[in-house]
Amino acid sequence: MRARERYAAEPGCGDPGKEDIVNERTIVITGATDGMGKAAAIALARHRARLLLVGRDRARCEAAVADCLAHSRQQRLDYVVADLSTVDAVRSGAAEILARIPRLDALLHLAGGTFPAQRTLTGDGLELAFALQYLSRYVLTEALLDPLRASEDPRVIVVAGGGAYAKGSVPDDLQSERDYKWHRVIAKSAVLNDLLTRDQSERHPEIGFYNYGPGLVRTKTTMRSPVARIFFQTLGRLFTRSPEQAGADLARLATEPHEAGFYGPDLKRDVPDWIHGDPAAWRLLRQQTEALLARLEPGSGPQVRLAA
Ligand SMILES: NC(=O)c1ccc[n+]([C@@H]2O[C@H](COP(=O)([O-])OP(=O)(O)OC[C@H]3O[C@@H](n4cnc5c(N)ncnc54)[C@H](OP(=O)(O)O)[C@@H]3O)[C@@H](O)[C@H]2O)c1
Repeated sequence: MRARERYAAEPGCGDPGKEDIVNERTIVITGATDGMGKAAAIALARHRARLLLVGRDRARCEAAVADCLAHSRQQRLDYVVADLSTVDAVRSGAAEILARIPRLDALLHLAGGTFPAQRTLTGDGLELAFALQYLSRYVLTEALLDPLRASEDPRVIVVAGGGAYAKGSVPDDLQSERDYKWHRVIAKSAVLNDLLTRDQSERHPEIGFYNYGPGLVRTKTTMRSPVARIFFQTLGRLFTRSPEQAGADLARLATEPHEAGFYGPDLKRDVPDWIHGDPAAWRLLRQQTEALLARLEPGSGPQVRLAA
């Protein structure tokens, strides 16, 4: 029986009877050293999934692995160090992942988070939020298609807006050259992830693409200022969620039988109308992305300050 059918026939991910099924899954998580990514890793480690954590700092990766081991009896946990803000580093990280695992059952994209008050460029000359929260996801998924296709139930999950942001068109000023505000670039990357989910679903129908909007979650991204911290620890607790709640949603999305598509907190489905709309938008974003990547190839001219 295929794993998908066995999920349907057996109890939920939280039940001990599920463990052997989750146990068979190999899962890569970026942004696994903090916040929701680490919470998802711990939740999945508890159910004994084989995990490969991706982080930009070796000591923080080792600490995340130790946290997972403290909550789990299993030993199949490892990490890859990769700063995902440049295309070369994403591809090197992907090469390391490819060398370690022949099959990938779920890829969770959570690297991202906090962005500086001033517009900041990566080593590729790209705006940081665009590079990290959109482009790295595009490049990493495309680089890992072969091991994903080797799974009988492959899934790619981006954590962004769950479809709540996009209005069905590609934002102009992709890299916020004209107008930069740190909170706006986060919303913009959510739009891009919505379009990315639709585009990759269309191009790779053999893979399940999921877009999860966790709501407002208490992580270092949202609690970056002392005022925000006080607010989230008091009144804000009433309408925000813990990283563990979001991590539990993600663990379920990576392992339980859920249709591909857009999800909100507690895995509620609230699919906006535009999602069914004009494919021209996501195809246009793909063309722009491929053109940008082509210009970043060695020998294709200066690699700084490329307009999107
Ligand atoms: N929190 C929310 O309410 C919320 C809502 C909607 C969407 N999201 C999105 O969900 C994702 C995770 O958010 P979070 O709140 O859990 O964030 P978080 O607690 O700040 O964690 C972000 C993770 O990304 C890693 N990271 C940052 N820059 C990186 C880089 N250059 N290369 C590789 N890894 C890098 C961080 O590594 P370090 O440990 O080294 O810092 C950390 O593991 C983000 O994309 C965020 O925009 C968050």
